[in-house]
Amino acid sequence: MKLITTSNYEKLSQQAAVETISRIKRNSSLNLGLATGSTPTGLYQELIKDHKQNKTSYKEINTFNLDEYIGISKKDSNSYHYFMCEHLFEHIDIPLDQTHIPDGTAKDLDEECKRYEQFINEHGGIDLQILGIGQNGHIGFNEPGTPFDSRTHIIDLAESTRKANSRFFDSLEDVPKQAITMGIASIMDSREIFLLVSGASKAKALATLMNDDISEDFPASALKNHGNVTIFADKDATALL
Ligand code: F6R
Repeated sequence: MKLITTSNYEKLSQQAAVETISRIKRNSSLNLGLATGSTPTGLYQELIKDHKQNKTSYKEINTFNLDEYIGISKKDSNSYHYFMCEHLFEHIDIPLDQTHIPDGTAKDLDEECKRYEQFINEHGGIDLQILGIGQNGHIGFNEPGTPFDSRTHIIDLAESTRKANSRFFDSLEDVPKQAITMGIASIMDSREIFLLVSGASKAKALATLMNDDISEDFPASALKNHGNVTIFADKDATALL
């Protein structure tokens, strides 16, 4: 894993954007894996800025999001569908039918997991996957203990994850208890991975990732088995390295 350290979050977002845009310039029909949460929003802002200033086009790009809450409709402001439209899709020239996110309201959720996994494969797999990391080491919503050979599946969210994400909801009770997430094996199939780590609250997770052994108890450690991972970390996140 290659580690790029930046002085602050803004620089992290800019550097991750420069690298992402270079992949899009190299391959105008890139399959781009996306994450939600606070960490990648700066990157998305930089991509929007670049699209407006330099006309980088997303017309042939397909995007695949890592995860979606179960039981929240696409129109709900807490859905990841809504999040992605608001933070990225509405501001670039990507046709919305080329943006793909698991459907957390599907009648048959197991079938939806299979469909999503197969759908990504039918599109030729993910060229570049953007990831954030949970304080407990989760990637996507693969909580500690998730098998490394997991594919897209339904996951019970850890209490710590629900608490961390309750900042987006009116109350903790409103945070869904389950989500659909790409599995660890699905993520590892990506040809390249950018892991974004920002802030003091992620310092322990980054130190565990860099220093400890590979273990299913710390999902992000699977990335050590991947040959093409770049970690973008700001100074606060590297405090314990
Ligand atoms: C979101 C996702 C999660 C987040 C992680 C960090 O799609 O897959 O793994 O990346 O929970 O979230 P933030 O960036 O809000 O700290």
